[in-house]
Amino acid sequence: MEQRRLGDSDLVVSAVGMGGNNFSRPKTATETLQGSTEVIHAAIDAGITFFDGADIYGSVIGRSEEFLGAALKGRRDRIVLSTKFGFAGNDAYPGLDLGPNGGERYIRHAVEQSLRRLQTDRIDLLQMHSPDPATPIAETLRVLTGLVGEGKVRYVGNSNFSPAHIAEADQVARADGFVRFVSAQDEYSLLARGVEREVLPTVNRLGMGFLPYFPLYNGLLTGKYTAEGGQGRLSKIKPHLLADVDWDRLSAYQRLCDQAGLTMLQATISWLAAQPPVTTVIAGATRPEQARQNAAALRRLDDSLLQRISDLFGPPQAG
Ligand SMILES: NC(=O)c1ccc[n+]([C@@H]2O[C@H](COP(=O)([O-])OP(=O)(O)OC[C@H]3O[C@@H](n4cnc5c(N)ncnc54)[C@H](OP(=O)(O)O)[C@@H]3O)[C@@H](O)[C@H]2O)c1
Repeated sequence: MEQRRLGDSDLVVSAVGMGGNNFSRPKTATETLQGSTEVIHAAIDAGITFFDGADIYGSVIGRSEEFLGAALKGRRDRIVLSTKFGFAGNDAYPGLDLGPNGGERYIRHAVEQSLRRLQTDRIDLLQMHSPDPATPIAETLRVLTGLVGEGKVRYVGNSNFSPAHIAEADQVARADGFVRFVSAQDEYSLLARGVEREVLPTVNRLGMGFLPYFPLYNGLLTGKYTAEGGQGRLSKIKPHLLADVDWDRLSAYQRLCDQAGLTMLQATISWLAAQPPVTTVIAGATRPEQARQNAAALRRLDDSLLQRISDLFGPPQAG
């Protein structure tokens, strides 16, 4: 498995990582602790060292982290563990008023809960899951700097930030001597390329790493769905996405993959991993064989093939 540095930080992660929002997902094989544990162990055994979690993932808030923490017993030191805070605001902590999600009370509470659920004494990468318009970014960075100083968090990243907000946070951190966000996370795949316009150039310029979420477009870009159907998350819980698919384009992509001697999964993961500053492709999985296939999917594609794949899906979309 290829290893990469996350931006200009000292964190080294596998080029294919694992997303954590399937752990405890209802009506999947990872709904149970055992099902999730099998996927997590298969991923680690296949060389995946980066796990992308969040406090809110799971059938109830925190359950994905609980499953991850339990499955990592004895394996914690082999992986780079990330989680996120803030997406659900105070809804993540019913009965408590912790203030805005970028403020000190909120962040400290969220981090303590994540550390407990993950059964660890440190979070390798703590990501702010969404911006907080109510709190100046300098205040959020001050709190995060304190947590890094205490050893509870090693590095911090952001997610769902606009390019201007990413740049502002970096500038404030440098000017005020706070820890910098070393990574950004946003949706990115062949079917969602809006970040190519401004987010990726900004992240690249600032020396940050990038984590693309929904890299497989919920499974559509693995080749398992066709115009005739296919079984999985999309057919069960996101049929609206399937209804909008351009099947002619997807069939053309399948033919291009066939000509290149690649599965669609291999082409999808390899294309994404080749787009700077993408660091680790955090594909989710609901079965151990998916984790193994994803871990083994990475190929070095030549420039002309990368370009043909890019061209097939057109220029960056708005967003
Ligand atoms: N920061 C954010 O706001 C945000 C938002 C969303 C997601 N994320 C992160 O991004 C990660 C990845 O997103 P995601 O898991 O939702 O979507 P994804 O990676 O695009 O798709 C994952 C789904 O693809 C299918 N799949 C995976 N490997 C496969 C294989 N080898 N063969 C066939 N099908 C395969 C599985 O679907 P089936 O289960 O249907 O088989 C799996 O659940 C998340 O886990 C989470 O960590 C972050």
